[in-house]
Amino acid sequence: MDIQEQLKKIQDEAASQISRIRDKSALEDARMRILGKKGELTMLLRSMGQVPPEERPKVGQMINAVREKVTAQLEALEQEVKKAETAKQLEKETIDITEPRPHVTAGSMHPISLVLDQILQVFTGMGFDVVEGPEVELDHFNFELMNIPKNHPARDAQDTFYINDNTVLRTHTSPVQARTMLSRKPPIRIVSPGRVFRADEVDATHSPVFHQIEGLVIDKDVTMADLKGTLDAFAKALYGEGVTTRFRPSFFPFTEPSAEVDLTCVNCHGKGCRVCKDTGWIEVLGAGMVNPKVLEMCGIDSKVYKGFAFGVGLERIAMLRYGITDMRLLYEGDIRFLEQFRED
Ligand code: DAH
Repeated sequence: MDIQEQLKKIQDEAASQISRIRDKSALEDARMRILGKKGELTMLLRSMGQVPPEERPKVGQMINAVREKVTAQLEALEQEVKKAETAKQLEKETIDITEPRPHVTAGSMHPISLVLDQILQVFTGMGFDVVEGPEVELDHFNFELMNIPKNHPARDAQDTFYINDNTVLRTHTSPVQARTMLSRKPPIRIVSPGRVFRADEVDATHSPVFHQIEGLVIDKDVTMADLKGTLDAFAKALYGEGVTTRFRPSFFPFTEPSAEVDLTCVNCHGKGCRVCKDTGWIEVLGAGMVNPKVLEMCGIDSKVYKGFAFGVGLERIAMLRYGITDMRLLYEGDIRFLEQFRED
């Protein structure tokens, strides 16, 4: 086969190979095979020695012409392959905006958090600070400074979770009163929400872990009327204008005098129903004037300063507010219950 025939063969084969190529790696293979160091055309060039010198320029030109042609074909193909690959990539990355997405539901605020937010809004609106105290509390703050001495029935091991002789899980938020009086100077106006613990069996109205919010006001001319006005404002803000408070005499070691505070029944508005056991009133909190003994123990001159305090169970407030009849619903995390409080 003379060189011309060989060249023609190379060119034809190259053309047919190139027409079958679909991807980059096949393209590179073909390039190597035809144009590479050991490629067919290169080999042919090397064999120029056998060509008579007078024919060499012509043969050289022919080889170069084929090389240029093949190179151009390969380059054109490379553009095509690149385009095809980009198109494939784009296709793969296409986002189908009509495809239905997995259903995602928003969470909801827990009813305890909802009432707490409302209560905090009422009290911060009246100028109260929000402070917090520890859940693991010294006996000294939980009992001693609250005028609950050793041997007082409230300390009964059946009610209190003891960590050791001096340390308890706080049984109420009242110790924050003592912590605040010892760390701030009057006038004092604080509320303190948080978890409290009592060794109670779980039932529709009891839980060993529950929530309270404590209130404390200390100033020079604080009276029981201020306490009543404050709690009335709180009752109306939470339950509506028609709701008022009623004080009944009671006893707490840390207040003197003390009161149990009732609200107008939020269910029947005072007419009498099953919820209020036909009394028209519902008991919701304890309150009173801070016992001068407590003031003195906490470093406040009881001849100059007076104070009032109150303690509210948040579960009870939430249950009344939302008509929840079993406290256990508040802790079980049942989505069917919780999603009813979604605000959307
Ligand atoms: N600490 C009381 C309790 O847990 C509630 C309470 C009653 C708090 C009267 C007060 C108060 O501040 O004045 O049952």
